[in-house]
Parts: sequence; structure tokens; C-alpha cells
Amino acid sequence: MKDNEMAKPNQATNRRQFLKQAATSVGVVATASIVPASVLGANAPSNRINVGLIGCGHQSQRIVPAFLVHDDMQMVAVCDVNRSGIGYYYPEQVLGRETAQRWVNEHYATKTRSGKFDGCHAYLDFRELLARADIDAVAIVVPDHWHALIAIAAMKAGKDVYCEKPLSLTIDQGRQMVNATGKYNRIFQTGAQFRSSPNVRHACELVRNGRLGKIHTVRTWVAPNSFEGPGPNWKPMPVPAGFDYDFWLGPAPEAAYHIERCFHRWRYILDYSNGQTANYGAHTNDIAQWGLGMDGTTPIEFEDNGSEFPPAGSLFTAASKTAFRARYADGIELLCETRNSAATKFEGSEGRLEITLGGSLKTFPENIKDSVIGPNEIHLPRSNPAREENVRDLIDADHVRNFLDAVKSREEPIEPVQYGHSSASLCILGNIAQRVKRKFDWDPVAERSTDNEVNELLTRPMRAPWALPS
Ligand SMILES: NC(=O)c1ccc[n+]([C@@H]2O[C@H](COP(=O)([O-])OP(=O)(O)OC[C@H]3O[C@@H](n4cnc5c(N)ncnc54)[C@H](O)[C@@H]3O)[C@@H](O)[C@H]2O)c1
Repeated sequence: MKDNEMAKPNQATNRRQFLKQAATSVGVVATASIVPASVLGANAPSNRINVGLIGCGHQSQRIVPAFLVHDDMQMVAVCDVNRSGIGYYYPEQVLGRETAQRWVNEHYATKTRSGKFDGCHAYLDFRELLARADIDAVAIVVPDHWHALIAIAAMKAGKDVYCEKPLSLTIDQGRQMVNATGKYNRIFQTGAQFRSSPNVRHACELVRNGRLGKIHTVRTWVAPNSFEGPGPNWKPMPVPAGFDYDFWLGPAPEAAYHIERCFHRWRYILDYSNGQTANYGAHTNDIAQWGLGMDGTTPIEFEDNGSEFPPAGSLFTAASKTAFRARYADGIELLCETRNSAATKFEGSEGRLEITLGGSLKTFPENIKDSVIGPNEIHLPRSNPAREENVRDLIDADHVRNFLDAVKSREEPIEPVQYGHSSASLCILGNIAQRVKRKFDWDPVAERSTDNEVNELLTRPMRAPWALPS
């Protein structure tokens, strides 16, 4: 396959469906030699979900264990344009396809009698991974400028998708991801895992059930940039061996290599991201949307509120200080800004509630937080109904569990693509307000403003030959 050619749609029968049908029909006799006798067992091949991981960087260290903890899935392939950890800033981190492959194989080796396993394959090109008919689902853990292209290609190839937050780089890309999920009838989980946090859910249930009275304001906080980055005099650097930089850039504009551009810190550069506004905002604004019951829509007005950007010519171009305000159709005001720690605070006529991403819940008056939600009140979905404790690693695993259950049941997961799209849209529009530095209106149904400069920022050209699959 040529480098930039999209994978052909996978016409092959869904592997698990095939095995299931074979096992429950006379076909099981005819195919006994290829369907093991254990096929009817709980974790038989017919029930096991084969997963491919695309993107083996910083966040994959959370995602890989969050998948591997579940015995009804197998990670059969990993993919990264980076061969191994060269160029990264935490030497001990799992980075690059060969490192991730080793990690996964070592995990499965502990489960075999021989203590050996080499069944996880490593790919540089995601299209080769997507071309494998035995892969049911993919976890997309690449920078944001790749989300839409890889997710849509994966769904077109018949895969269900777990895609990291923020859902997309642009409003238009997010809309196309929503459309593709419907068109290809796929399961799509947005990787905003705090929806699987018991404390976040309790906080949102308190808000939804009126414990704070009528909500008038929501404050969402995003953490500051962790790095300042090179200033306007930055100099290009040689590309490290084993790193396919042109592939990493993909649909983004041509640009000279610098280590701070690619590894993890791409999130401070507008070509690949919408900065911390969308990075942390994809969590704290997502919690605001959940608590307010605004999934599937967004505010109708956005305005800059004193954001700041790095000096012209700097490598980092995204807001160094987030500050925007937005207004929902019912008048609720949302104020998003940089603070030392990321949190969401709801303010109502009867009280206030603050929930951090660490799961710490404070209410004013204090006793609101201990209020029990009655059987006839609003209960929000739970990824793992048995889970009470708010432990970060369990949240990640439960969010993945919810995805795997949805893959099997074909029911919507806890954060389907259209919710991920509305939360990401809120952040993207906040970022646009920070860039254009004026107030604009927004129609959440038409996904257009009456401000044409804003409309021009809803999409971005893709560097040829890359394009979203049609
Ligand atoms: N849910 C969370 O709490 C959370 C936390 C951190 C990051 N994230 C998200 O995870 C995603 C990845 O972020 P990260 O911090 O791991 O970034 P990273 O730069 O550390 O890792 C991204 C990896 O993707 C690889 N990559 C880039 N383009 C690729 C392509 N076309 N095909 C295959 N591999 C490719 C890179 O080489 C790199 O190894 C982002 O969307 C980010 O927002 C989510």
C-alpha cells in the first residue's frame, strides 16, 4: 500500500459475529477444526474482542493497562509512527510501537504455560492495522490533528472506536465523526474517562436533582501549560532515527522538526490542538455539560475574557492563559479559565459545588454532598454499577469496560461520539473566541455563527494527499 492511500473498507464478516454464528449452528460441526471446543466459554474467541492500539505515547501508558485488565479482550496489534522511545522526556516511559509491543507481549506471556508470547504485532502505518479483518476495535491515542481521519477510516473498515478526548481538532471534523458513526453503525466511546468516576457522577446527580437550586453560573478551570517552550528564536532540530516525522505531521501543515513540536507538547501548538482550553477543557467542560444536562448541544454565545497567547514567532501558539465566557440558551453562564488545578464549579440559588479531576468534591453548604439521590430522582449512567470508590486507575479501566460492553451489546456507551462532539465543540468555540477576541453568536443545531470569520475557523485544510475518508 502506498504511504498516503486510505485503507479499503473492510467487507469481511465481523469476526466475533462469525464465530458466534458458527458456534450456535450446525456450522460448528463443520468448522470444529478451526473453532476450538472452548468456543462457548465466557472468554472464548467468539466473546473476545480483538483490539488494536493506535498511538503509543504518554497517554497509552494509562490506556494499555486499562484495556489489558479485561480478560475478554486481546490487544493484538499496536501502531505508532515512532519506533521506540527516542526523543521523549521521561526515559522510563512506554513509548513507540516496539516498546508498547514488548509490553503487551510480556503481559500475555505471563498467562501462557511456556511463559512466551509474541502475538502482538507492531505497525508503523495505521492503514495496515485497519486492514486486518480479525481486529474488532481500535483505541486511538494519537495527537488531536489525527483523531478524525483515523477514527473515520477505522469505522469505514468496520472497527468500533475508543477515541481519546478532545474528540476533534475542528467542529467540522467532529461533525463528520458523528456522521460516520451513524453511517457505518459503529460503537464509539469518547475517552473522557471522568464520566466513569463515581464522584463526578454523584456531583452531576446533585446538580441535576436541584440540590443547588437554580444554576446560574458554571466555572471550569484548566491547568496551565506545563512547559514554556522555545521562544521566537527556536531553531529546527534533526529528526530522531526511527521517527517518521512526515507521517506524524500527516494532515497538518509542513513544518520544521523540533522535539517540543511532537512529543506530548504538540498540545501547545494550534496546528495540532486547541491548547489547554481543549485539553483539560475536554474534561472540565464535559463535566459542566453532564451536570447541566447539555449533552448534544452547546452554549449559544462565546466571548474572549482576557486570554493570553505566547509572543509571535514562538513554537507554542495556543493560549498560554485560557479565559473565555459562554452563555447557554437558558441564560446559564459558563466561565472557563486557567487555574492551578482543573475543576468544575456549579453555582446555584441554593448552594455551590466544586469537583476536581482528582475526584475531590466540596459543597457549600457542606451537607449537600452527603445528600442521597432518591429512587425516583435522576440517576446518571454508571460504567461499573458495583464501583463506589473513586480511584483513578479504576476509572480508566471502567471507562474501557463500558466500551467493551457496548461493543458486545451494541448499546450506546457512556460517552458516545455526539456527547464527545458537543463537549469538544464548546472548547473549540471557546478557543475561537480567544483568537478572534470578540463576542459571537452560535447556532448549535446548524453549527454556524452569523460571524463569517468564526465560520472560516470551523474547518481546516488538510495537507495533501491526506483527506477525511468519504
Ligand atoms: N484522557 C486523558 O486524561 C488524556 C490524558 C493525556 C492525553 N490524552 C489524549 O491522548 C492523545 C495522545 O496524547 P499523548 O499525551 O499520549 O501524546 P504523545 O505525543 O505522548 O503520544 C502520541 C503518540 O501518537 C503517535 N502518533 C502520532 N501520529 C500518529 C499516527 N498517524 N499513527 C500512529 N501513531 C501516531 C506519536 O508518535 C506518539 O507516540 C491526545 O488526544 C490527548 O488529548 C488524554
